[in-house]
Amino acid sequence: MAERLVSGDLQQEDQDVFLRPRRLEDFVGQANTKENLSISIQAAKIRQEPLDHIIIYGPPGLGKTTLANIIAAEMGVAIRVTSGPAVERAGDMAAILTSLQPGDVLFIDEVHRLNRVVEEVLYSAMEDFFLSWMVGKGLAARNVNLRISPFTLVGATTRFSMVSAPLRDRFGLVCRLDYYEPEDMKVIVDRSARILEMDTDSEGMDLIASRSRGTPRVANRLLKRTRDYALVKADNRVDGAVARAALEQLNVDELGLDRSDHRLLISIIDKFDGGPVGLETLAASLNEDSDTIMDVWEPFLLQLGFLERTPRGRVATRRAHDHLVRPYATADLTDQGRLNGF
Ligand SMILES: Nc1ncnc2c1ncn2[C@@H]1O[C@H](COP(=O)(O)OP(=O)(O)O)[C@@H](O)[C@H]1O
Ligand SMILES: [Mg+2]
Repeated sequence: MAERLVSGDLQQEDQDVFLRPRRLEDFVGQANTKENLSISIQAAKIRQEPLDHIIIYGPPGLGKTTLANIIAAEMGVAIRVTSGPAVERAGDMAAILTSLQPGDVLFIDEVHRLNRVVEEVLYSAMEDFFLSWMVGKGLAARNVNLRISPFTLVGATTRFSMVSAPLRDRFGLVCRLDYYEPEDMKVIVDRSARILEMDTDSEGMDLIASRSRGTPRVANRLLKRTRDYALVKADNRVDGAVARAALEQLNVDELGLDRSDHRLLISIIDKFDGGPVGLETLAASLNEDSDTIMDVWEPFLLQLGFLERTPRGRVATRRAHDHLVRPYATADLTDQGRLNGF
């Protein structure tokens, strides 16, 4: 399958390492989140206490991992990185927690995917910096209690609603990341182009910013691809015309939708009469995993108002039909027909 422009893939994040803002002041947009973080960080520093636990949520590519690293950098502490699915046993979590130095940041990506037993170790660790867990089984089982260094847990998730209530309640600060405003995207694209030492013009950069679906990771990826295109097909300069040609080559449309987005919408419209169609049925028809569809494909389509989640399933809206030049009337009339008893 063709590589997606948007993905939750962790490996791809590493390639962006040079483009990642290091300090809060370099982090573009998300003014409210930034202000809240800045106040908490300053207060913690004045009090010389570890920062309160923070959960960051939002669609992939908006800066959750970046912010976790920034938080550690601003606090002047080390960051230890893991993820929900990577920690399988209570003992693994205990080992991580006991290895932390005072004030360290423990970053748990996909925190909604921690399993119950591992989560339970976290509760007392977060609350009292105290570990309590069972070792061994049956008659040999015994309880281990251990004090650990005060630390800051930073959790990230694309699915806030799937974080269990007891865990959610233990975070002192909740940060939601939204799709970036067009002005912010322009600043991000310009900044990345400068770091990548690209030769550009403002029309080219505007075009890339406007087709990056409000997502910095997509902007960076499109920039790199247009840079390749310009090197091979043009004078190594990304102006408006070159950017347009490159994006066309990448099958990115005016709204930033790629072939996968089109496939999803066309599937709903053509195969399921515009919906409603259940997520699992849709996933099967696209040969994709339903979690990926929900976390990676759908958020931007929902944001655009192209897709609706209804109790009976996914529906492609009139806007989606218009964008894909599919008649909407059919779906409309059929429903009307049913209502009228035809
Ligand atoms: N506010 C921002 N300003 C500039 N670049 C950003 C910003 N947020 C994210 N990025 C860029 O986008 C990329 C993806 O961000 P990341 O933190 O990995 O997203 P997430 O963890 O939410 O999936 C990063 O490598 C970074 O270069
Ligand atoms: Mg991330």
